[in-house]
Amino acid sequence: MFALFSMVIFASIHCTVSEENVSLESIIKRLEYLENREVQLENEISELRSQGTKCQMNDDDTNNIIDSQRSKRFLMDITEGAVAFTAAISPIEIDHVKPLEIIKFDTTITDIGGGYNNQTGVFVAPISGIYAFSCSLLDHVGTHGGPNGAMVHAEIIHNQRLLGRIFAHAETTYRDQGAQTVVTAVTQGDQVYVRTRDNPDLGLGGEFYSTFTGFLLQLL
Ligand SMILES: *[C@@H]1O[C@H](CO)[C@@H](O)[C@H](O)[C@H]1NC(C)=O
Ligand SMILES: *[C@@H]1O[C@H](CO)[C@@H](O)[C@H](O)[C@H]1NC(C)=O
Repeated sequence: MFALFSMVIFASIHCTVSEENVSLESIIKRLEYLENREVQLENEISELRSQGTKCQMNDDDTNNIIDSQRSKRFLMDITEGAVAFTAAISPIEIDHVKPLEIIKFDTTITDIGGGYNNQTGVFVAPISGIYAFSCSLLDHVGTHGGPNGAMVHAEIIHNQRLLGRIFAHAETTYRDQGAQTVVTAVTQGDQVYVRTRDNPDLGLGGEFYSTFTGFLLQLL
């Protein structure tokens, strides 16, 4: 009886020790595994940290590039892409302007972009975009027009398209001035000019009263 009891206790202890052994071994293995894993994770974290710093540096680089491109675009818009002209009629008057004749504003005041030709009076768009054009004409009777004076009918033309008309009616003792401003989309190479409409023998006032202006508002 005692022997059996002892055997049971022994078996029980043995079993307990064995289980403890097994569980200690597994705990130690588990600890070893966790220690290794911890080292691995620390390495991974420090690697990610250094990559994060690199990313930040790249972000800074990217921002610098974007900034420089922005300022480049800004510069291009303002200088390289700038188109603006103003030309004027400088003599006291130009005589005998015929119907549908292109008015030649002979004196170039501004011509950024090189689009305006003071020999022909025609602006050729150096780049596509939205443009504003403005023209002011002084009607000068001079020796023209008879007792009722003379009227100027002129029009701003984009290729064959009418953009706007200018009217002024001078009398013998008075001059008159008409003006027009238009905005339109223009393709590179298009022509814009001012011509008379139906005046048979017109005198146009000069001395910088009559001007033709155009400028690029926005690239297209
Ligand atoms: C328990 O561990 C001890 C000490 O390491 C060892 O001598 C014994 O054999 C182990 N018992 C078993 C059942 O693994
Ligand atoms: C006419 O245009 C040419 C070429 O742009 C320029 O050199 C010249 O000074 C201009 N003439 C006048 C009177 O503005």
